[in-house]
Amino acid sequence: MPENEKKFLEIVDLQKGFGSGETRQEVLRGMNFSVAKGEFCVLLGPSGSGKSTLLNIIGGIDGADSGYISINGDKLEDLGEKKLTEYRRKHLGYVFQMYNLIANLNVKENIEVGAYLSDTPLDIDDLLHTLGLYDHRYKLPNQLSGGQQQRVSIGRAIVKNPDILLCDEPTGALDYQTSKEILKLIEDVNKKYGNTVIMVTHNEAIKDMADHVIKLRDGAVRYNHINTNKVSAADLEW
Ligand SMILES: Nc1ncnc2c1ncn2[C@@H]1O[C@H](COP(=O)(O)OP(=O)(O)OP(=O)(O)O)[C@@H](O)[C@H]1O
Ligand SMILES: [Mg+2]
Repeated sequence: MPENEKKFLEIVDLQKGFGSGETRQEVLRGMNFSVAKGEFCVLLGPSGSGKSTLLNIIGGIDGADSGYISINGDKLEDLGEKKLTEYRRKHLGYVFQMYNLIANLNVKENIEVGAYLSDTPLDIDDLLHTLGLYDHRYKLPNQLSGGQQQRVSIGRAIVKNPDILLCDEPTGALDYQTSKEILKLIEDVNKKYGNTVIMVTHNEAIKDMADHVIKLRDGAVRYNHINTNKVSAADLEW
């Protein structure tokens, strides 16, 4: 693999703390790793280890205190507000743990919201089929199960066909069977569209389906492993 591909996404000496004086808390204490283009990367770590903080910085929602993130050789901090907005809108998909769907828009419309942001959106009907939501496309979020709502939120993020898909505990609120279906969906999306995926989870078993496993503890990377023998989501058990 060429060197520049290996370093599609680079996290370099990243530091981030919150608060000041006595209540100051250092959350990221010099974090380093890189992710290759198209890689399925799983980020593990105990609660409070800074996983969401890191995703927010990669997502351009929050800034670091020092160090930097670069994507395809461009440092995020050098982009400026206009380019950063464009990066968030067009090149990044973000799946939140709590879905964050728009309550008065139906399934199809919620996904269209994501499509409007992109110059090169995926075909919505095709995606609705991939998501297993085609028959539910005219339902409102409150008429859907939790797993279906999470599918819609994945659809909204993926319809942009983003370069990078960030997923924060996408199965955190779901039961075993539904979790496996959602993991399989993210796996299929990664294979079909080739997006670089960074997925946060508490669940150690999920690491086996990843190309790349990163474990965080005390604000730093404690384990960084490329999986040469990955298992498909359908075969995971926990
Ligand atoms: N905006 C903020 N202001 C102050 N402290 C914050 C802020 N955001 C996060 N923190 C603190 O930073 C630490 C890391 O939080 P973060 O949400 O990144 O953890 P996490 O690894 O995602 O945990 P979890 O697995 O529980 O979601 C926590 O101690 C949290 O209280
Ligand atoms: Mg979190």
